[in-house]
Amino acid sequence: MVIAIDGPSASGKSTVSRLVAESLGFRHVDTGAMYRAVTWKMLDDGVDPADTDGVVHRLKTLRMELDFVSEESGPSALRIRLDDQDPGRKIREAQVERAVSAVAAIPQVRAWCVARQRALASRGDLVMEGRDIGTVVFPETPYKFFLDASPEVRAQRRAAERTAAGENAAVAAVAKDMTERDRLDCSRKVAPLRVADDAIRLDTSRVNARGVADLIIRHLRSRHARAACCPEQK
Ligand code: CDP
Repeated sequence: MVIAIDGPSASGKSTVSRLVAESLGFRHVDTGAMYRAVTWKMLDDGVDPADTDGVVHRLKTLRMELDFVSEESGPSALRIRLDDQDPGRKIREAQVERAVSAVAAIPQVRAWCVARQRALASRGDLVMEGRDIGTVVFPETPYKFFLDASPEVRAQRRAAERTAAGENAAVAAVAKDMTERDRLDCSRKVAPLRVADDAIRLDTSRVNARGVADLIIRHLRSRHARAACCPEQK
């Protein structure tokens, strides 16, 4: 079973996905971390993210290892290694964040990541978060959610996360970067960010992550109960 949770930056996807995965005993997959890791590797190897041919060439020999690791609290989550290196928190750094949408727009990068994301489903039940999980990666899953929040709330959330991590983050600068990333993610040719026709949309502007996760779990339970008694309504 795959639960797809899509949405733009700072819509609450990561926190909500982790809570849902933990409550259900599912594994958690942050697909954004995969695109960030590839971007980090390109930058680390001196490949210009704007040089599509260079990125595609480097991708041919790149090895990505994906394991699930259990932490003390929270669900079993993905650990990513690229050519035997664990980038850890480096994938969250500003230079990666500025370049990731360009790298993620390259069709070959998407195909490379999507093949690996689909393969993860054979390892067990998943909550997978991203931008195109319900539309492209697992379009057949009946369990699709799309989280969103107002741009102001999203920028404030991301700035607060950064400040808590000890970084310098003015809301206006964060908002500007986020608007640009949204623009690139929504306008790319392959797998743009959009709401799947059959996804349930949730506005997280005024509900905390626990509240959103509980809504999702309630919805899944009622859907499951309906499917068990009347399979044709699944
Ligand atoms: O943390 P935040 O929500 O801001 O971003 P993320 O989920 O870590 O994703 C980083 C970037 O990866 C996005 O801006 C997209 O360009 C790309 N991405 C994608 O193209 N497709 C996905 N399924 C997930 C992320």
